[in-house]
Amino acid sequence: MNNQRIYSDREQLDRELAAHIGDALTDDIQKSGSACLAVSGGNTPKGLLQCLSGRDLDWRNVSVVLVDERWVDTQSADSNERLVRSHLLQNAAQDTFVVGFKTDHDCAEEGLKEVQQRVSLLKKPFTAVVLGMGDDGHTASWFPKAQNLKELLDLENTDEVAITDPVTATHKRVTLTLSAVLNSREIFIHITGEKKRSILESAEEQRFPIAAVLTQSKTPVTLWWAP
Ligand code: 6PG
Repeated sequence: MNNQRIYSDREQLDRELAAHIGDALTDDIQKSGSACLAVSGGNTPKGLLQCLSGRDLDWRNVSVVLVDERWVDTQSADSNERLVRSHLLQNAAQDTFVVGFKTDHDCAEEGLKEVQQRVSLLKKPFTAVVLGMGDDGHTASWFPKAQNLKELLDLENTDEVAITDPVTATHKRVTLTLSAVLNSREIFIHITGEKKRSILESAEEQRFPIAAVLTQSKTPVTLWWAP
């Protein structure tokens, strides 16, 4: 990858990425009145979200949307919405509007329309999308063995949100599609550790789902990494 920001420790990485995102949000708010940031779940973003919560910016004009969600109750330990709310909604960011993907419907299939509606109303392009990556080369909820992976990554598919069964991980997921992720001013791949860095380096050769982000030229992508 050409664009890389490499740090010697995770705390510094989180601080610098939060500062960069904070400036980008402020810039968008100044230019057009509001901004929307898309964030991933998993463990990696916790420190980043905490650092972001301390950034002094006009959070009332920011929406934070998930990149993907597991179809679990929003109080579940596996809920990405819960993770974002508990780590971001404090300090300066305590009243920020969070857009989740779990609805009160009985199943994801029934809830999909509502989630599509929520996402369609968000400010686009996103100011930034923060992506994580799993050891199998998935990002968002684009899992290597998912039956509908091709549709999720098909740029002709204009649906912004889709349901997917990861097969190799728990819970049905609701995820932004590739075309939705690329509808952003910038994309940050936020990963830590040598193992993930080498997985990312081999992603194109191995045809891992995250390669779809690396091989496109529509939206600038930067790797943010620390050991
Ligand atoms: C999720 C994600 C997912 C995540 C990776 C990395 O809900 O699982 O949003 O794409 O970014 O699985 O997760 P870790 O940061 O926990 O390694």
